[in-house]
This record gives sequence, C-alpha cells and structure tokens, in this order.
Amino acid sequence: MRLKPFIPPPKAISAVNRRLAILPAGLRAHIERARAEGIRIAAALDVPAPEVDFALAAHDLFRAEPDDVLLREAARLGWEIDELERDEPRLLHGPVAGLWLERETGLDHDEITSAVTYHTTFAPRLGTVAAAVFIADKVEPEKLRRNPALVAVRDAALAGRPYESVLLYLKWLSDDLSTRAGRPHPRALLATDWISTMLSRS
Ligand SMILES: [Fe+2]
Ligand SMILES: [Fe+2]
Repeated sequence: MRLKPFIPPPKAISAVNRRLAILPAGLRAHIERARAEGIRIAAALDVPAPEVDFALAAHDLFRAEPDDVLLREAARLGWEIDELERDEPRLLHGPVAGLWLERETGLDHDEITSAVTYHTTFAPRLGTVAAAVFIADKVEPEKLRRNPALVAVRDAALAGRPYESVLLYLKWLSDDLSTRAGRPHPRALLATDWISTMLSRS
C-alpha cells in the first residue's frame, strides 16, 4: 500500500496538459467525462482517485493521431506490434500513450502506465486502478447514452465489483464485434479467461 498520496511529477503534469490542450474538442470532452466518472468509480471501488484521474487524463492523448503516426510511435517506443494492431493501428493509441508516459514524461508508476497502455483491451493480472480506468472510459455518460446495455457494467463497478464489471464489458464487446464481423483482440480474450478463472475460484 502506498503511504503517501500520489502526486504526479511536474514534468508529467505539464507534458499531459500540453497534449490535452491540442486535442480535438470532442475527444477532450470525452476525457473530461471519463475523469468525472473515474472519480465516482474510484470511490466505489476504494481505489486511489488521483491515480485513476491521472491515467484517465492521459489515456486518449494519442487517440486522434493518424494510423501512420501510431505505427511509427509504437515502433519507436519499442512496442511489439501484433497482426491485429497492424490491421487496426488505432488499437495502438493506448500502448503509445502508456509508453510515452513512462519513457518521456518521467512518470514512474506501473499501475498508471499499465492502466493507460491496456485501456482498450484490458489484460490479465491488471489491478483495480486499471479496472477503474477501463470501466470509467467505457461507461462515461455519453457512451452509456449510446449503449444503454452498458448500465450493467457501471452498476457492477459502483457496487464494488471491478472484475465482474470488466468481464461484463469484455463479453458485451465481443458480442458487439461479432455482429459487425469484427474480432476481439487476443489480449481481451486472455483477460476474459483470466478474470473468469479468478472469479470462479473466489
Ligand atoms: Fe482510448
Ligand atoms: Fe477513452
């Protein structure tokens, strides 16, 4: 357990703020809604709100970058680009943001960088900060308005069940993708298996 409240290094705060300032307005509005939702979910899950908030501030900083920039940045930062990411480079916006935070802003905080890196797919063995970030991103009010089925995801989180909430979302996403001839990322499938096994043992 951390004894001191998390305070991001000033260099990381200003780097994140500089990038936030140049994002398209719609994306910035989504980030603000996700941050507000993150505060509520962090309280419900009893996880530290400052970590969740900083991760949500950073999670979509590269979401508006074109495919070629995402592919170039992912390679430059040392991410191993898989086949699905090569086909759909927007899947790289989380990994690029996570690696950028770690390598280029001086942020030394695995929970935050993992939460950012894996906010699109989730991943096995992630903790509750990453779960809170993942959920808040998916159930902020505008996304909930577009997909009312996600209210169950939010309800599970607000009832203090982070992994059930993530699992509900991953299953919803898999079903949703299958109606559009899409396929889940292999890491999302691994996360689904990991959470299912963990919940069946508890
Ligand atoms: Fe994202
Ligand atoms: Fe997002």
